[in-house]
Amino acid sequence: MRIAVILGSTRPGRRSEAVARWVLDVANARGDASFELIDLADVNLPFLDEPVPALFGEYAHDHTRAWASVVASYDGFVFITPEYNHSFPAVLKNALDYLYAEWNDKAAGFVSLGGGGGLRAVEQLRLVLAELKVATVRTQVALGRGSLQGGLQQHDEELHAMLGELVAWASALRSVRAIAA
Ligand SMILES: Cc1cc2nc3c(=O)[nH]c(=O)nc-3n(C[C@H](O)[C@H](O)[C@H](O)COP(=O)(O)O)c2cc1C
Repeated sequence: MRIAVILGSTRPGRRSEAVARWVLDVANARGDASFELIDLADVNLPFLDEPVPALFGEYAHDHTRAWASVVASYDGFVFITPEYNHSFPAVLKNALDYLYAEWNDKAAGFVSLGGGGGLRAVEQLRLVLAELKVATVRTQVALGRGSLQGGLQQHDEELHAMLGELVAWASALRSVRAIAA
């Protein structure tokens, strides 16, 4: 079972980086899946420049094919997302829009941050992921101002609850992908 922890902020000085490190530390101590970081700053995609919508799977560019093979290699995703103007960052939407089949019939969970815990960002992200046939688990970790100041370890239990749901769904969806194939 391979789960990608997708770091959805590329802002210099981003708080999401420390959050992603905490998620990886907690997740990799569990032993039920392998969790790896995907930093969208390293993926470094241009704004969508594919002539054909991803639904058709006709990728023209090497950067798209490289991104497709990365995403295809995972069974599920943890999205680390800040809230920007009541939504999730544009760099994350761009990375999602590039692909289609590689996201399909996989599971996702969320760790969000923002003044109000990033809840609105996650509500919007769930709608977008539904179009990409990603099943999103209910339990989520929402980090508000107090959480970031008071220490992330106070959220370890919620994080484990979310990861438990995610690993179970990611495992179950393997059979859905086998039928689809
Ligand atoms: C462009 C921008 C817009 C933001 N809009 C919101 C917002 O609508 N609601 C909110 O709760 N926080 C908002 N924030 C605060 C961020 O969610 C918060 O600073 C978070 O730590 C940013 O994550 P990052 O440091 O990883 O980029 C905004 C921050 C930025 C940079």
